[in-house]
Parts: sequence; C-alpha cells; structure tokens
Amino acid sequence: MMRPSALIPALCCAGALVLSFLCLFAGHKEGFMEDYHLLTVNTSRIGQNLLNSSTSSESDNPISNLFHNITNSISDEINDAVGDVAERLGVDDFYSAHILDYCYGDYVPTPLANVTVSDDEIHKNVTGCSNRTAMYHFDPTEALERSLNESGVDITLDDLDWPEEIQRGIDGVRILQETVFVLYCISIGLIFLALIAALPALIASGRLAACLNVMVAALAFIAIGLASAIVTAVIVKGSNVINKYGKEIGVEAHRGGKFLAITWSATGLMLLTLLLWCFETCIGHRRRQRSFGKHG
Ligand SMILES: *[C@@H]1O[C@H](CO)[C@@H](O)[C@H](O)[C@H]1NC(C)=O
Ligand SMILES: *[C@@H]1O[C@H](CO)[C@@H](O)[C@H](O)[C@H]1NC(C)=O
Ligand SMILES: *[C@@H]1O[C@H](CO)[C@@H](O)[C@H](O)[C@H]1NC(C)=O
Ligand SMILES: *[C@@H]1O[C@H](CO)[C@@H](O)[C@H](O)[C@H]1NC(C)=O
Ligand SMILES: *[C@@H]1O[C@H](CO)[C@@H](O)[C@H](O)[C@H]1NC(C)=O
Ligand SMILES: *[C@@H]1O[C@H](CO)[C@@H](O)[C@H](O)[C@H]1NC(C)=O
Ligand SMILES: *[C@@H]1O[C@H](CO)[C@@H](O)[C@H](O)[C@H]1NC(C)=O
Repeated sequence: MMRPSALIPALCCAGALVLSFLCLFAGHKEGFMEDYHLLTVNTSRIGQNLLNSSTSSESDNPISNLFHNITNSISDEINDAVGDVAERLGVDDFYSAHILDYCYGDYVPTPLANVTVSDDEIHKNVTGCSNRTAMYHFDPTEALERSLNESGVDITLDDLDWPEEIQRGIDGVRILQETVFVLYCISIGLIFLALIAALPALIASGRLAACLNVMVAALAFIAIGLASAIVTAVIVKGSNVINKYGKEIGVEAHRGGKFLAITWSATGLMLLTLLLWCFETCIGHRRRQRSFGKHG
C-alpha cells in the first residue's frame, strides 16, 4: 500500500537536495550558472573617477589614498591614449565569487549603458575561473600584485603601503568561506539521508519510521538553515564593506540575489518536509489509537 501523504515530504526533500547541489556547484566551471554568484565585484570603472582629480590623498579611506597614488602615476599614459584605468592595470571588468571558485571576465558589449546599449543588453563574458579546489583560497592581494606586475606599471604593493586591515578582512572571509563549504557538504549529506529515510515510510506506516524521519529532517533543516544564514551574512556584510571602501575608487559589489533565492528555497523545502513529517507522526498516532479503540 502506497501512502500518498508520505510522498509529498519525500518530494520536498528531493527538491531541497537538487537545490542544495546547485548552490554548491553553481559557477564551478566557466559559464555554468554564472548568474548564481555569491557576490560580483564590478571593477570596470576602477580608478576612473580619480583621474585628473587634484585632491590630495587626505581622505581617511586608505584604499582611496592608495589608488590616488596608482592613478597619478599612470594618468599621463591614460590621458594621451584612449583607454581606461582597469585595462591599463590589467584588471578584468568583474570578479564573481562562488562557493567552489571565483570567475573573472569582461562585460559585453560595454560595461556602461549608453544610448544604444541598454542595461538589459549588458552580459558577463567569463574569461576564466580559478582552479576548482575544495576550499580554494581567494587572495585578492596576490591577484592585485600579479596584475600590477604583468601590467608593467612600476609600482609594487610595498610602495603602496597596502593596509593591514584589508589583509585581516581577507583572512576573515577565507575562514567563513571554508565554514560555508563544509556546511553545504554536511547539508547535502543530511538531506540525502532524509530522502533515504523517507523511502520506508512510503510503504509502511510505523511510528518509529515517522519519528526517524522527523529527526533526520530536523538535522538537515538545521544544517541547510545555518549554511544559508552564514552565506547571507557574508554576502550582505561583504557587499556593504566593498561598497563603502570601493565607492571612492569606482568599485561596486552586486549581491547574488538568485543564489540567495535558491539557498533559502532549499531551506524552506526542508522546513516544509519537517512540518509534514511532524504532522504525519501525530495523525498516524491518532489514527492508530482510534483503530485500537474500535477493536478493544
Ligand atoms: C583629464 O584632463 C585632460 C586634459 O587636461 C583631458 O584631455 C582628459 O579627457 C581628462 N580625463 C578625464 C578622465 O577627465
Ligand atoms: C555605446 O557603446 C557601444 C559599445 O561600446 C558603442 O559601439 C556605441 O557607439 C555607443 N553608443 C554611443 C551613443 O555612445
Ligand atoms: C567573450 O570572450 C572571448 C574571449 O575570452 C571572445 O572570444 C568572445 O568573442 C567574447 N564574446 C563576446 C560576445 O564578446
Ligand atoms: C591551475 O592549475 C594548473 C595545473 O593544473 C596550473 O598550471 C595553474 O597555474 C593553476 N592556476 C592557478 C591560478 O593556480
Ligand atoms: C613581481 O616582479 C618582481 C620582479 O620584477 C618579482 O620579484 C616578484 O616576485 C613578482 N611578484 C609576483 C607576485 O609575481
Ligand atoms: C602616496 O604617495 C605619497 C608620496 O608620493 C606618500 O607620501 C603616501 O604615503 C602615499 N600613500 C599611500 C597610501 O601609499
Ligand atoms: C559597473 O560599475 C559602474 C560604476 O561603478 C556602473 O556605472 C556600471 O553600470 C556597472 N556595470 C554593470 C554591468 O553593472
């Protein structure tokens, strides 16, 4: 006898499993679900607003002072030729962070909307992604150093007095990122377990099976909920910090709304699964009690 009431939580669980897989693997290779990024940093206008600005580096924003020095040292070249600072520095238009790696590339056809090209027509053209390693280490300091070296601009980070607090922030993000990676793996494992545990409940209506389902579903819900909460905090905090310090040098961060949508949908589906199993347990219990009463 197939119990349709057990089919619904099993389907919710399967949906949550697919969504949490997508969360983990979005962007793991070039162009695969690129829109489901955690955070995209738009560096296409980096330093542009500092060109020709004669204001001295008296700002209390260390990044802004630093870029004043960079742009001042290359402003002659920028002014004679057509070109932009990002191109001159060898920096890509955008960098997008995913759980397993980060990707970079250019906006096509142009980073800025103009009369003929509207906002909707601007797309990301991914040039490449970092090597996919579990727990890759995102190190913007090294990336910037390499870009400066390759661009041939005669500046090193030592000359620029790279601020300590930026490096500390980067280290903090790295720890959180490893935590999030591990939490998604645990969540996927537990949701898979919850799906397996649901199979016996489809045919038999034992109280024990229902209790087991409630327990496993509760653990899976807690794991995916925690992963979603931490990743949301990282995205919100990270984009706020980048926008705060980056605004003066023309860098902005875009939050990954689509990623948040799928991770919280997975969490919602696991909550629904949990509630349905709880309901099943109570109803099943009452049904059995009624039938015992009739016979006894
Ligand atoms: C900077 O000034 C030069 C002339 O002084 C001008 O040709 C150039 O367009 C200016 N660049 C920007 C970005 O305003
Ligand atoms: C808008 O940008 C595109 C791509 O760079 C360029 O071909 C076009 O001429 C621009 N249009 C205007 C009006 O500037
Ligand atoms: C995307 O970038 C590649 C090189 O990385 C280039 O060959 C291709 O033409 C670009 N696509 C568009 C639409 O510009
Ligand atoms: C990625 O891995 C390849 C070899 O597998 C290596 O040659 C390359 O340098 C690596 N790239 C980065 C950015 O670590
Ligand atoms: C940059 O170039 C200098 C020498 O030109 C070299 O000593 C340094 O290791 C390079 N840094 C990176 C990150 O490649
Ligand atoms: C910018 O350059 C000036 C002198 O050229 C130096 O005094 C200042 O410390 C530099 N600022 C930063 C943040 O590197
Ligand atoms: C990138 O940032 C610049 C300014 O920071 C903005 O004007 C532009 O619209 C952004 N481009 C995209 C594709 O979001």
